[in-house]
Amino acid sequence: LPDILSTKLLLNKKILITVGATYEAIDPVRGITNISSGQMGVALARACRRAGAQVFLIYGKLQTPLPLGMTHTEEAVSALAMYEAVFRLINQVDAFISVAAVADYRVANSAAHKLKKDGSGKPPIIELTENPDILQSVAQLPNAPFCVGFAAESENVLNYARAKRAKKGVPLLVANDVSLSMGKSTNQVILLDDFAETTLPEMDKDRVADAIVARMSHLRFQAA
Ligand code: CTP
Ligand code: CA
Repeated sequence: LPDILSTKLLLNKKILITVGATYEAIDPVRGITNISSGQMGVALARACRRAGAQVFLIYGKLQTPLPLGMTHTEEAVSALAMYEAVFRLINQVDAFISVAAVADYRVANSAAHKLKKDGSGKPPIIELTENPDILQSVAQLPNAPFCVGFAAESENVLNYARAKRAKKGVPLLVANDVSLSMGKSTNQVILLDDFAETTLPEMDKDRVADAIVARMSHLRFQAA
């Protein structure tokens, strides 16, 4: 077996990674977000760096420190801001890893000023509108970089992940059960690609990230 820790599997490759949770404002002090900590994405950024890659990192809300040694780091808190940042950089990179927990919907009627109770006792109506799917938009570009997606599921993990990989046209999809991963330093994932469905044991997120890097490298950057 090749020694994945000493071989620079992604030497000089440019890798764009989105990490963390997006945040969609309701008003200037309130919003909709999710419980993704950003740990898996940051672990992947560090693993790509160890593998010799230049990493371009776009981050939303993080509950973990930013990694060092990035070629480019940029905050993009809402899904639309993240979409815009990704598309500004996408033509420069060899691969895109979409780890961010992107809000599926944003607030259609977000308020410029802090919402006030109007005294009627009736709660305000928050209207939602669908966000663009960043990963799917990138994967379906004519000259798409190699795309890696994640599938966060709480049930039927394998079936939902297979359907997601097919729908988005992503060559490598990392599926996990959110109850086994969110907020934890370990993860237990299944790697789905054109050749295999590989169930990895529960490992530290750094080791899961190394395994994803090795699979990416094998699928995209190594001779058959
Ligand atoms: N994703 C994205 N843009 C979105 C939503 C999701 O780029 N607007 C990406 C995520 O970064 C992840 C993958 O798509 O890599 C799957 O996200 P997930 O939430 O699991 O799936 P969805 O396609 O949003 O479907 P659903 O939430 O209905 O399961
Ligand atoms: Ca989603």
